[in-house]
Amino acid sequence: MSITALTPRRGASPPSDPSGREPSPAAATRAVGLRAAFRSVRAHTGALAGPLSAEDQVIQSMPDASPTKWHRAHTTWFFEQFLLEPHVPGYRRFDERLAYLYNSYYVAAGPRHARPKRGLITRPDGATVAAYRAHVDAAVDALLADETALPPGIAGIVEIGLNHEQQHQELILTDILHAFSENPIAPAYDPEWRWRAAARAPGTLSIPEGIHTIGHQGDGFSYDNEGPAHRALVGPVAIARGLVTNGDWLAFMRDGGYANAALWLSDGFAAVQQEGWRAPGYWREQDGRWEVMTLGGLQPVDPAAPVCHVSYYEADAFARWAGRHLPAESEWEVGVRSGELADAFGVVWQWTRSAYAPYPGYRAADGALGEYNGKFMVNQMVLRGSSLATPPGHARTTYRNFFPPSARWQFTGVRLASFPS
Ligand SMILES: [Fe+2]
Repeated sequence: MSITALTPRRGASPPSDPSGREPSPAAATRAVGLRAAFRSVRAHTGALAGPLSAEDQVIQSMPDASPTKWHRAHTTWFFEQFLLEPHVPGYRRFDERLAYLYNSYYVAAGPRHARPKRGLITRPDGATVAAYRAHVDAAVDALLADETALPPGIAGIVEIGLNHEQQHQELILTDILHAFSENPIAPAYDPEWRWRAAARAPGTLSIPEGIHTIGHQGDGFSYDNEGPAHRALVGPVAIARGLVTNGDWLAFMRDGGYANAALWLSDGFAAVQQEGWRAPGYWREQDGRWEVMTLGGLQPVDPAAPVCHVSYYEADAFARWAGRHLPAESEWEVGVRSGELADAFGVVWQWTRSAYAPYPGYRAADGALGEYNGKFMVNQMVLRGSSLATPPGHARTTYRNFFPPSARWQFTGVRLASFPS
């Protein structure tokens, strides 16, 4: 994807079949071949880092955000740790010391460097990390030279490694945006980047009460947290066809939304007071006008664009102010399958009122890769869809993203729902 392709596309959504289910990354992988998919994803990480200087790539502006150089190295370690070392006889690690630096949270993979201190690591330098990537790329490329001869299970590890790297590609953008937002000269990652207006999609989609199958089915790749597919009672509910806009949010602000404790969850209002929130993340008031820090630098807030960088707490308070609520993730999934919701993908992740919990019958896999999703199933909320920073082809209708309710540095927005009165 080129840098300019980060600009949200009108009506952006992954290509969908009549069932509303997008082709999975695995389907795409099988179409182009595993080695071609590997090369493409790895090259895209390099393209995303391309506009960033060596200094840009070292900075860590908060504990939740990681340096670009760390993302480039960690995604490489993932292939080395879970694919090459256990499955390629005679593979020699690039540097034994890097496993400690670039293991993120896998307890079964050994001890690791403290997350909040990733920005203190100036060595290995960027050129060494590039050599690390090339070393691992060459080994994986050789492994995938004859895909018909791969031992069982190898293709699945490559697929999860590619999807993992795509998740970090989104984080490269969200994390550098946070870093640049701390810089008084407000640098632009891509000077041509612009928000676009939300799709014109007034009204709501009514979903009558019914039993629906929720979760991933079929052969394509999915994360383990998207299954097992199960039947759930959904509705009656009405879901907004469009997203909440900056204009909607300005009305909430003008009405004293951030100061009215009656609208907020207790933890949410505590966050408002503690953090001094009075507008979405990255908004700044300049001479009575609101501007927002974007990947294109500081830009005027466009009332027609979807609101972004709001926490779950803010989304929930806004919904209460509007006399609505946030959709449950099952309601969102059924709504999207109908094909009647606009801007479901490729604009902003949409908070749901669903806590991130295991689906009925879920069990994390044994071993280190079982730590990928399952151990985070507490104290977080589910987001659905995808954002302008999500690599094309990465998201699915059943995809479950998750973040703590106070998080604002991701591209997170709001779709409302209401119960029939
Ligand atoms: Fe990771």
